Amino acid sequence: MADYDFDVLIIGAGPGGYVAAIRAAQLGLKTACVESRETLGGTCLNVGCIPSKALLHASELFEEAAHGHFAQWGITGEFKLDLDKMHGGRKDAVKGLTQGIEFLFKKNKVEWLKGRASFTGKDSVTVGDRTVRAKNIVVATGSSVTPLPGVTIDQERIVDSTGALELAQVPSHLVVIGGGVIGLELGSVWRRLGAKVTVVEFLDQILPGMDEEVRKESNKIFKKQGFEFKLGTKVTGVERTGDGVRVSVEPSKGGAAETIEASHVLVAIGRRPNTDGLNLEAAGLQLNAKGQIEVDHSFRTSVPGIWAIGDVVPGPMLAHKAEDEGIAVSENVAGLTGIVNHNIIPSVVYTTPEIAGVGLTEEQARAHGEVKVGKFPMLANSRAKTNKEPDGFVKVVADAKTDRVLGVWMINNLAGTMIAQAAQAMEFGATSEDIAYTCHAHPTHAEAFKEAAMAVRGKPIHI
Ligand code: FAD
Ligand code: NAI
Repeated sequence: MADYDFDVLIIGAGPGGYVAAIRAAQLGLKTACVESRETLGGTCLNVGCIPSKALLHASELFEEAAHGHFAQWGITGEFKLDLDKMHGGRKDAVKGLTQGIEFLFKKNKVEWLKGRASFTGKDSVTVGDRTVRAKNIVVATGSSVTPLPGVTIDQERIVDSTGALELAQVPSHLVVIGGGVIGLELGSVWRRLGAKVTVVEFLDQILPGMDEEVRKESNKIFKKQGFEFKLGTKVTGVERTGDGVRVSVEPSKGGAAETIEASHVLVAIGRRPNTDGLNLEAAGLQLNAKGQIEVDHSFRTSVPGIWAIGDVVPGPMLAHKAEDEGIAVSENVAGLTGIVNHNIIPSVVYTTPEIAGVGLTEEQARAHGEVKVGKFPMLANSRAKTNKEPDGFVKVVADAKTDRVLGVWMINNLAGTMIAQAAQAMEFGATSEDIAYTCHAHPTHAEAFKEAAMAVRGKPIHI
């Protein structure tokens, strides 16, 4: 240790890096974390998960109050939008949580090195004018918005997800490029607050990577809510027109071009790993074709002593995946056995209703062998029906021979919370029968999961 400033140095304080830092310090390692932002928490806490969920929550309340949902329960009144105050609530959430990480760093004695890290060797980096050496270095630099060639983000009329969180006025017409998670979540925020929203998606369906039935059903639900979709369509250009924007589009597979006049455009076509300026060559590290750092099951890179986690390595770009990798990598650095089961990473789209899944899609499961599928509609779930939340279903995909659950997919108002039960059951190797014979409290949305499991081998009671 004599030559080293730290046992472990983590680059990036997002959910991957800050969790890794805290875990390393808990395990008795002398730990530092380099972060160039002014606040800790990375994309997730500053410009991602947290501010988007704050606006999703607030805009949902507004829509329920102002657009009749309250009225169906006899709650009436005049509700007005104070967008500045709504943004204030978002900023409060971000401030509270990012400061919370700063407190946790102090509590656990993690040193925050403020600035950008750049490798000078395989065990050393510079941060500003300081050079530090560490026995282990964990790269957790995350990701940033993928640019669309030919489209310049001005964060006024042509925005990325960060700009879309901060719009000072409700757009009259927002064109969202990309029917993925960000497009649908932030599109929902502005639609609920009064914008017309048109989603232009290159593929012939929204939400790539999710179960086909879930993709189709959610598309129907979003249409019913007022979203307009241009599927199988690519954007060929975006130009500012005084107070608005003109978006040129054409069918992805060729055909007649058209233009869409709008007030704002949100570019949400994915994210790419952050490695610029890291000087990885000095450490002897190379990137794969997607610009990611390859790691083994323990999160070791090809260079001994250098580890990598989160959005900068292959796998879904999700905060909880980064966090779990953060815990596992520090346990491995400390000589323990840190494991992440990448087959069971839940994904959630926090729209209304929520969309969630874990494990294999029905299509992936069928490609592996014979399966049985059980489905239960929310319309037949007593609590959802009582709450007037009839949209969606729960679907359980199980191996036809062993009955082991291979995947669970759902659309319903509490799907983001309910999917945790599915993930846990799958971690324990549950069969559909195990879930069907587990007592679920009544009346809850979660009973739809039990009934979908009952539908795999036998019959649910309520349909
Ligand atoms: P990041 O959170 O990106 O953090 C990396 C940090 O490293 C950054 O703070 C960066 O400043 C810092 N850094 C980079 N390079 C250097 C350097 N050289 N020196 C010093 N510091 C450096 N995921 C979910 O699971 N649920 C959600 O609801 C969700 N919502 C999202 C909403 C939006 C709008 C966006 C954009 C993303 C959302 N995500 C969500 C994705 C989630 O934010 C990421 O998967 C997660 O933040 C990745 O964590 P990370 O630690 O790998 O990287
Ligand atoms: P995404 O990968 O989810 O969706 C991008 C969409 O854009 C895809 O459907 C793709 O086909 C489409 N697309 C790509 N190029 C296009 C083009 N030129 N024209 C039209 N469409 C095009 O990426 P998104 O929504 O930007 O989100 C980035 C990441 O952030 C995701 O990987 C996701 O994991 C994470 N995230 C997670 C959230 C959550 O967990 N709730 C919320 C928001 C983001």
